[in-house]
Amino acid sequence: MDVKILVLGQGAREHAIIKALIRTGTPAADITVAPGNAGIAREVACQPNLDPNSPTDVVKFALEQGAKLAIIGPEAPLVAGVSDALRAEGIAVFGPSKEAAQLEGSKSFAKQVMAAAGVPTGMARTCTTIDEVISAIDDFGAPYVIKADGLAAGKGVLVTTDREAAIAHAESYIEMGILVEEFLDGPEVSLFFVSDGTSVIPLTPAQDFKRAFDNDQGPNTGGMGAYSPLPWLPANFIEEVEEKVALPTINELARLGAPFIGLLYCGLIITKRGIRVIEFNARFGDPETQVVLRRLNSSLSNLLYKAATGHLEGVSELTFSKEVAVTVVLASEGYPVTAAPNRPITGIQEAEATGIEVCHAATATVNGELMATGGRVLSVVATGQDFEAARAKAYEGIQKISLQGSHYRKDIAAKADSLKVSE
Ligand code: AMP
Ligand code: GLY
Repeated sequence: MDVKILVLGQGAREHAIIKALIRTGTPAADITVAPGNAGIAREVACQPNLDPNSPTDVVKFALEQGAKLAIIGPEAPLVAGVSDALRAEGIAVFGPSKEAAQLEGSKSFAKQVMAAAGVPTGMARTCTTIDEVISAIDDFGAPYVIKADGLAAGKGVLVTTDREAAIAHAESYIEMGILVEEFLDGPEVSLFFVSDGTSVIPLTPAQDFKRAFDNDQGPNTGGMGAYSPLPWLPANFIEEVEEKVALPTINELARLGAPFIGLLYCGLIITKRGIRVIEFNARFGDPETQVVLRRLNSSLSNLLYKAATGHLEGVSELTFSKEVAVTVVLASEGYPVTAAPNRPITGIQEAEATGIEVCHAATATVNGELMATGGRVLSVVATGQDFEAARAKAYEGIQKISLQGSHYRKDIAAKADSLKVSE
């Protein structure tokens, strides 16, 4: 697979995608990233001044670069219609159309698709006024699950037993519309499927840690760490999700005339009554991608190109390393509630020297100095024969990194070996 690839995005997810492309055989010289970040720029060419959400600017740049495949990392360019604009110019795109990306962009659209496709999910009610929200939460009862019906950078969902807090959260997002959902109890799993619009190929399951602090305390974040594989999953889990969730969803979108070409992220809860979808995303998850792609042995560029060009049927089953992978996110002071000022960050090379990978997110080089510039700053990724070994490596590595006020969770993958699901 020797084609010029353009990757859009600037987070640790995109850095993990680039590392996986290179690890599985793509020459670094064939990859350009826009806008990228300080860590990505150390590995491949970056165009930091491109706005990834502008269809016109992205198309112009992709044509100048001679890109044959565009991989869209974040959701915002998808919802802005960047995939459609690139496809109109004959560029193969791994990333769904604006219409299909509504699966992530609108939670009520996702619920409609699931209802039509018979996909198992929690009961939910769409509300446009606070009175409707109050009546829904009182009907469903506590714990209350309140979701903003649009993109809110991982902060639109509140799960709480505090009725006043539930109403206050609904008030702050009421303009987007609110979805009140039944509370689902059980362990969470993220499972990704690559889709060419008509067929799917599963990747390997991962678990994300959404809350800011240890023992699942504190507010929801974009994700503070992840691990893969999940030794506690029931047998045939992947097949069941493919059959009951991924394929019916892809088929329903095709039926609606909005074929889904890209990454279908299935956010699932395994309840006592079976698997339920809590969310779909239309792109790779962050930080799950850091562990999922770390374990991928098959060619990533071949997989994504075949999906983008409608030829997944020719791709043989993917292979993943038997090693386990653990990622831990380093966040700035105050994340996810308040923003810290830009601060110097040091020790990354020392961390890498311990044998881990560092995927950069919010980093920039300013006057020759590496600075942390946002909430989730980077993720360290370690592999090992077992979770004890991989965790030890991840935490040894992250301790080498210094950033004033920063924090990270100490319990990522701590229960990977002991979790049980009731069957
Ligand atoms: P979402 O953005 O929809 O994935 O929600 C963020 C987080 O809120 C999820 O990862 C879950 O931890 C939690 N959550 C969402 N929906 C539910 C639900 N119906 N029941 C319990 N927890 C939920
Ligand atoms: N880690 C959750 C997400 O990417 O949405």
